[in-house]
Amino acid sequence: EEYDLIVTNGVCVTASDVATLDVGVKDEKIVLLAPSGSLAQAKTKKLIDAEGGYVMPGGIDCHVHLEEPSMFGEGSSADSYETGTRSAIAGGNTTIVSFAPQQKHLDSVLGALEATHQLARDNCYCDYGFHLLVSNPSPLALSEFAQLANTEGVTSLKIYMTYTALQLRDNEILSVLLTARQNHILTMIHAENGDVLEWLSDQLEKQKLFAPKYHSNSRPPILESEATNRAIALAGLIRDTPILLVHVSDPAAAERISLARQKGQPVYAETCPQYLFLTRDDLDKPGFEGAKCVCSPPPRNAEDQGQIWTGLKNGTFSVLSSDHCPFRFDDAEKGKKTCVTEEHPVGRFRYIPNGLPGIETRLPLAFSAKKLSLTKFVEVSSTNAAKLYGLYPRKGSLMPGADADLCIWYPDGKLNEFGLTNDMLHHDVDYTPYAGRRMRNWPRYTIIRGKVVWNRDHGGVVGEKGYGRFVKRAASCLDDMWKTVDEEGSFDLESL
Ligand code: URP
Ligand code: ZN
Ligand code: ZN
Ligand code: ZN
Repeated sequence: EEYDLIVTNGVCVTASDVATLDVGVKDEKIVLLAPSGSLAQAKTKKLIDAEGGYVMPGGIDCHVHLEEPSMFGEGSSADSYETGTRSAIAGGNTTIVSFAPQQKHLDSVLGALEATHQLARDNCYCDYGFHLLVSNPSPLALSEFAQLANTEGVTSLKIYMTYTALQLRDNEILSVLLTARQNHILTMIHAENGDVLEWLSDQLEKQKLFAPKYHSNSRPPILESEATNRAIALAGLIRDTPILLVHVSDPAAAERISLARQKGQPVYAETCPQYLFLTRDDLDKPGFEGAKCVCSPPPRNAEDQGQIWTGLKNGTFSVLSSDHCPFRFDDAEKGKKTCVTEEHPVGRFRYIPNGLPGIETRLPLAFSAKKLSLTKFVEVSSTNAAKLYGLYPRKGSLMPGADADLCIWYPDGKLNEFGLTNDMLHHDVDYTPYAGRRMRNWPRYTIIRGKVVWNRDHGGVVGEKGYGRFVKRAASCLDDMWKTVDEEGSFDLESL
């Protein structure tokens, strides 16, 4: 038998084990894991010597905004499906899940899905799926959820408790939760109290406090913990509807999530590199530079950062995603972080589009920090993402039968530590908030379905746009989160 690819001399890491094994690949799948060296002489079309480096399931980044309209209606997020997925593979990712945004004035969500398919089709370097972004839960939209989950392979959606263009009222949130529950769709929630932050922004502007750093003052932690608590309460009311709080930055919100799960409610959480590596001080820079770190929720203080790391280690957070949502700082017309327009000739924090680039730096930053065990690193950056979003075990595992999606790192001592610069990255953005950070390692090879698409030393991006395929996803399978929903059956008003 001939293999298509053999990876020899690697230290394989999964969410549960670390073992020196050779990996045999055929027809896009992992077909064999064998004692190290045992496949060194086997017949194969291609052999990669990992030289003792770690071999992991490829990174899965399930929170990515590509070509999405800005939350303020002007411009769109900077990376296209082409440039965003190119950047993804150069950072060790093999699958992403991005958003198919419903526009508020449209009733249907299937139209949003089709429009997003058109943006992505034939343009992606890695495999991809979509979450629906629901901004108008019309009766038509809700009636389409069954088709989304059962036919279209879209088994998750995101809703917002903030941003005027996207914010849902509590009654709308309940309608989404109920319909998601009926269709085994995981509801992702952006939990910040939008009304309060608009009020605080008004107050700040009245006092002529316009600098980027006031973005933090407009969104203090209590907005996040209040909305998180409300989201958990609403999901609890709709009897164990599973929810995932996205981009959690506030330790008090994390504590509320942890408590709910201890009590048996299926409440999950994600955090992002910006809450592990940036603080609110990064928004306080001369001129308008601070805008480069404006995202929502905003980076908190150093002590909070430490608690977010702890939450990753202890399982409060199931997943570490990038929330890649870049806007160029200064070089293009659309969606500039400087937010200077005719209407707003002086930049103001209130009009800075929210979001940071980070799809390429997520894995190397977290790996270089050396704060997570190897197995935990794989769990939160790949395996749990696959489980949460119905891609497991085809993605996020090294099991025979899984897609041969791999990230291979340099062995210790092979790559000299270096300081990150934006030139090294493959996104279509004119800055990285992580410039100057010390990198101790970087993905050396990224392999998708047995094909090398990133070879850092020989050719860089060697994959082709269009190689990436849309993946239809099954229902979430993390922790059997639908068990109680299934046991209880339909939501019963008599039981309230
Ligand atoms: O500031 C952020 N996070 N922007 C991206 C959009 C979102 O809310 O996830
Ligand atoms: Zn969000
Ligand atoms: Zn986001
Ligand atoms: Zn079920």
